[in-house]
Amino acid sequence: MKKGKTLLLFLSFLLLPLSMVGAPGENVRQRLLFNQDWSFHLGDIKGAESKTYDDSSWRKLSLPHDWAIEGEFSEDHPAGSGGGALPGGIGWYRKTFVATASMKGKRIYIDFDGVYMNAEVFINGVSLGIRPYGYISFRHDLTPYIIQGKENVLAVRVDNAEQPNSRWYSGAGIYRNVWLSITNSLHVDLWGTYVTTPVANAQKASIKADVTLKNTTASVLKAEVVSYLLDATQKVVSQASAQNISVTPQGVAVCSQLLHLDRPKLWTLETPYLYSLRTEVKVGSKTVDVYDTPVGIRSFSFDSSQGFILNGERIKIKGVCMHHDLGCLGAAINVRAMERQLEILKEMGCNGIRCSHNPPAPELLDLCDRMGFVVMDETFDMWRKRKTTYDYSLYFNEWHERDLSDHILRDRNHPSIFMWSIGNEVLEQWTHADADTLDIKEANLLLNMKRDKKSLAADGKELSVNSLLTKKLVDMVKALDPTRPVTAGNNEPDPSNHLFRSGALDLIGFNYHETYFKDVPRNFPGKPFIVTESTSALMTRGYYRMPSDSMYIWPTRWDIPFHDDSYSCSSYDNCHAPWGTTHEESWKLVKNNDFISGMYLWTGFDYLGEPTPYWWPARSSYFGVIDLAGFPKDVYYMYQSEWTDKTVLHVFPHWNWQKGERVDLWAYYSNADEVELFVNGKSCGIRKKEKDVYHVSWRVTFEPGTVRVVSRKNGKEVLSRELHTAGEPARIRLSADRNSIKADGVDLSFVTVDILDRDGNLCPHADNLVKFEVDGAAFVSGVDNGSPISSESFKKPERKAFYGKCLVVLQNNTAQGVITLKATSAGLQEGALTLEAR
Ligand code: GAL
Repeated sequence: MKKGKTLLLFLSFLLLPLSMVGAPGENVRQRLLFNQDWSFHLGDIKGAESKTYDDSSWRKLSLPHDWAIEGEFSEDHPAGSGGGALPGGIGWYRKTFVATASMKGKRIYIDFDGVYMNAEVFINGVSLGIRPYGYISFRHDLTPYIIQGKENVLAVRVDNAEQPNSRWYSGAGIYRNVWLSITNSLHVDLWGTYVTTPVANAQKASIKADVTLKNTTASVLKAEVVSYLLDATQKVVSQASAQNISVTPQGVAVCSQLLHLDRPKLWTLETPYLYSLRTEVKVGSKTVDVYDTPVGIRSFSFDSSQGFILNGERIKIKGVCMHHDLGCLGAAINVRAMERQLEILKEMGCNGIRCSHNPPAPELLDLCDRMGFVVMDETFDMWRKRKTTYDYSLYFNEWHERDLSDHILRDRNHPSIFMWSIGNEVLEQWTHADADTLDIKEANLLLNMKRDKKSLAADGKELSVNSLLTKKLVDMVKALDPTRPVTAGNNEPDPSNHLFRSGALDLIGFNYHETYFKDVPRNFPGKPFIVTESTSALMTRGYYRMPSDSMYIWPTRWDIPFHDDSYSCSSYDNCHAPWGTTHEESWKLVKNNDFISGMYLWTGFDYLGEPTPYWWPARSSYFGVIDLAGFPKDVYYMYQSEWTDKTVLHVFPHWNWQKGERVDLWAYYSNADEVELFVNGKSCGIRKKEKDVYHVSWRVTFEPGTVRVVSRKNGKEVLSRELHTAGEPARIRLSADRNSIKADGVDLSFVTVDILDRDGNLCPHADNLVKFEVDGAAFVSGVDNGSPISSESFKKPERKAFYGKCLVVLQNNTAQGVITLKATSAGLQEGALTLEAR
């Protein structure tokens, strides 16, 4: 070989570690999605955990699965309409699998991302324990029970029978992913990396990696840990290593490393750049584990006068609270369904998600990392004091330490998370809340702390049990993640609230109570502030109550059930809960006060359950800016005009009224000075937004025909919009959010169904029943129309339109190829669509 060539080879060898590392090998760690081929039985069965139990008659299905969403709505279900009026009960899942040669000599773990609730897991008939909390992720070690080379049987008993146990729809079953993790006996522990960025600016970054190694053997093992920082193209951009880490038998050891990077690409909301940290664990020359952790390089702080600062730039958090259900898909997670929700929110200008009021699916956080959201990750909706008869308060004493720490350990590497919330409106907060029924001995046991000096409030007085509990929870979070502030969604804005009195919360958070915003700097000097929850305005898409300048504050009284024949709330932003505000009111205060870091409005999407202000037959919420089917309500465009740079012009309501009726027309707009309205060509006047009012309006007399609005800047037309009086329903239009989906068995296409008149105008009152037929590579996985009072099934391939619209969700059935969808309805010209799955 020529000398030059040898040198080149040698040089490229030297460069190798900095340009590429091996992909995780087959012999290191396997993380297998364990969702296929389960059998399910609804109802309790004695002995169903037994290995020999005959489950051949059970239903075969794939996870994630939510049996409640398949049920029929009834006010008699114990969950009540607050819980979505859908069934609970007990369900069993079984899965038979063969322990193959690749599992020999390995550790075998089963990982559940979430099971609602009381999940008891059995392997070959042996119980591995019950996990009560329905939103927590948990692992069981199957290794000692696995029969090598033979069939093994996993059985899971899910008990969601005691209801109500939630203030909203929980779902029921193994509703998140299940994984089988197969590792060597020395491996990175469950959630065993903690990656932070102590230095993160445009010039340089330092990345700290704490790696927890677990040794499941009976001897001391010496390990080497090599950490590679990979950029988004998988190129190694930095690395570090540590030798001779000694891990005791059946023990763990933590190895810390620091990596450096010049000119990092920062994680921002617009460009959420993700690196990843690849951890390689070696024993001698053998690589025994490879483990990847996503890394976002960003710096942030919360400031008492400037609010939220990300990478040195002030950013207002324009957030929404979200519950976990995915409308007609129920609680069963689907990544595309979550991604679609986030896309619709992002389009509106939303930049923050509060996971209310429980740990979310891990995939939601992955999406937030990738799409750029400011996440408030919340653990509990209650502590020891219950809100519903059978809720988590029953388990809190025994489980809160485990659940809280598991939650933080699982989620602390997500760059999108900027704050932890230890609870929402826990009843322990109230100043008048009894110092609790605990005696001191009991309290010390529970709190696991001595009533020493640490337990004094700033005023020198002893802290209450409730304040001590707050302190304990905050301390627990801080021990696992000192990089993020801890907050809680309080109701009581007063500093004498037990949570505030603890002095432990870094970030003052309260829900609603907007008249108290201004007092925060005085009441909590030096503390930053976030509106953990705001608004609670109520709207039914497509429904308008006039006059639009009258307010409907519903429910009118607490003590008597609220009733209104319409079971509808007006979409003019003139209806809200007594504890809430209109959308414009809350936003105005947050916008105009720099010390407010931002807000998470209640809620981004409608959700199942909590149909305030109504009760049955209402069974889902009216709070969403977007309805349950994913159709924006009008106020969506108010946010879009305020929260984005987009040029917006949205006029509403529709133009189908009684002749001579007085009608209020509203418009949201941006990037223009004024808007002019014309009815059948006649001007009804020019309007300009007044200070702190984010819409314009006209009161006109209805005459059939055309409404036209024109927005102008410096006298020049910017945008125009038209509404036409629609005729009778004549045809169906189908439009898919994506015409090509993945042939992976889970990908979805959301198809909007519009009922149009002959001329193509949306019929704003149409409620025609539409039937769906699908052929080829998909099936109907859900239907909806956004109505909070419909008792139609979410699973039957038919749906009535609601104010002219409904939705059908198609799911790939693992086949590749063409998908055809036909939509028919009596008296209407049918709609058809062709899609593909690849
Ligand atoms: C809040 C509560 C939310 C939801 C909302 C409805 O007080 O935190 O979970 O119930 O009210 O307005």
